[in-house]
Amino acid sequence: MTLEIPQVYRYHVFTCLQSRPEGHPHGSCAQRGANSLYDYLANSLEKLGNPDIAKTVTGCLGFCLAGPVMVVYPEGIWYVPRTREDIDEIIQSHFVDNTPVERLIIVPRS
Ligand code: FES
Repeated sequence: MTLEIPQVYRYHVFTCLQSRPEGHPHGSCAQRGANSLYDYLANSLEKLGNPDIAKTVTGCLGFCLAGPVMVVYPEGIWYVPRTREDIDEIIQSHFVDNTPVERLIIVPRS
């Protein structure tokens, strides 16, 4: 039996904003600039004006040393954007043109 689950949003991006004290061995996405990138993402999505693209802040997603980390569903694609230009590219290529940005994808490994 296959369960049909309705899709609420066309895309939903989860962004880690976890913070840890300086010197913590895991580091954190917040230490790597996640907050300003998220603010930029949120403003850019608001300007885009597409209600089918949702954004949610998360705590640690478990791949801290690769951060800042964000995951886009429904595909479950993990991105590691470093700059505002990276965010621009994800928005345009993935969310508008439906083409994931391969150069920013990581494959999480535990
Ligand atoms: S702190 Fe962001 S993935 Fe762990």
